[in-house]
Amino acid sequence: MEFCNCNSFLQLLSLILTLHLSISPTTQQQLAAGDLNALHQIMDTLTDVKNGGFFSTWNFSSPENPCSSFAGVTCSVVNDKLRVTALLLGNGFSDSPGLAGTISAIGIYDLTELTQLILYPGIVTGFIPSQLGRRLKNLRVVSLTNNRLTGTIPETISELQNLHTLDLSHNKLTGVIPPTLASALPELKVLVLAYNNLAGEIPEFSDESQLIHLDFRNNMLSGTLPETMPATLRYLSLSSNGLWGPLNSLPSSNLVYLDLSMNKFSGPIPDSFFSSSLSSMYLQRNNLSGELPPPSPFFESYGPASIVDLSHNFLSGDIPNFLESVETLFLNNNHFTGKVPEEYVRNVFAGAMRTLYLQHNYISSFPVENPRDMVLPDGVALCLSYNCMVPPTVGLAACPASAGGAFSRPFRQCSVFNIGNSIG
Ligand SMILES: *[C@@H]1O[C@H](CO)[C@@H](O)[C@H](O)[C@H]1NC(C)=O
Ligand SMILES: *[C@@H]1O[C@H](CO)[C@@H](O)[C@H](O)[C@H]1NC(C)=O
Repeated sequence: MEFCNCNSFLQLLSLILTLHLSISPTTQQQLAAGDLNALHQIMDTLTDVKNGGFFSTWNFSSPENPCSSFAGVTCSVVNDKLRVTALLLGNGFSDSPGLAGTISAIGIYDLTELTQLILYPGIVTGFIPSQLGRRLKNLRVVSLTNNRLTGTIPETISELQNLHTLDLSHNKLTGVIPPTLASALPELKVLVLAYNNLAGEIPEFSDESQLIHLDFRNNMLSGTLPETMPATLRYLSLSSNGLWGPLNSLPSSNLVYLDLSMNKFSGPIPDSFFSSSLSSMYLQRNNLSGELPPPSPFFESYGPASIVDLSHNFLSGDIPNFLESVETLFLNNNHFTGKVPEEYVRNVFAGAMRTLYLQHNYISSFPVENPRDMVLPDGVALCLSYNCMVPPTVGLAACPASAGGAFSRPFRQCSVFNIGNSIG
């Protein structure tokens, strides 16, 4: 019996929830002896932190079948034997302290019919054993997040040919990302290694990769972007690493979420990055420079809930019209010059553009007709401070503390742009 054809991350999450709340079906059959022994060993190497209570149902003296009485254990009949097919370690409640100990119990590798191995947040330490990849060939979901796992990601994980989701985020893993992880797992859709101490370069992905969701944020990765990324990607975060080099074409035209913020990417932003289907784009705090490109011929305007953050770079030139329909737009702390397009002003006062941060640029005008009469709609944040103009008062009220107290730039900083005319 198969549990699901998890086609999406959301389906996966709902499956986890369902499994967590449901009680395994009672069967007359006895759990296979090897699997029962494995559960014994797991309980020997993991413990509840304080009174987490997860193992309180694991009573090996009870006549009840572990498949129906042990929390987190799900079984199915495989080849006429009752086998453990899913193991959810910890009760997963947000206020639960989770488990301590290690996941290196030898017995766990006898659970060869396991399709899901989930360890809920806790303080489990030790390595991810390489046996995981060698023995548990049926694994589709491995999620070992928010614990204290150390060591490297075993290369043997790429022997899990059915693996659909791998989430090892929020641990203390070191070393490089095994190249085979990106090239040898044909079924892999979700790969989350965020918040570890992984170093080295991002591996090259195979042409056959079906990856939809890739999250390597908050590691110590370096080097440039791989030449090709999976064309199937919809979500990509590489934020807060030490990546550098130019942004060439968009990593995948299917992206809806892209976060490359807090790296050292440099050079101009290619026009392919500006696309209404890419409705969340974070490029802030890099070393990007040059003017924003004219929109591509296929450009359609951004929709509600769109967000574009280009702040804290070295972008220059005029603020382009084509970002007028972005709902949350951060262009602050760059070298933009010239007038703010009238469409922006209209959309801000109509409440369609809900955040517009332009502070710390060299902008010379924000064209409002009657500055004294203008009132911002509720919830709209506009910040215009520290530019080459005296901003209207509506442009100062919603500035973050980081914008500083100065309303305008010193005149001498503005004269280099020959735009001193709009001061006053
Ligand atoms: C485990 O089960 C046995 C037999 O049913 C029972 O006597 C014992 O009290 C149980 N232990 C716990 C801790 O519930
Ligand atoms: C940032 O860009 C400038 C030129 O625009 C370049 O000289 C500098 O080396 C870049 N820094 C990094 C860290 O890439």
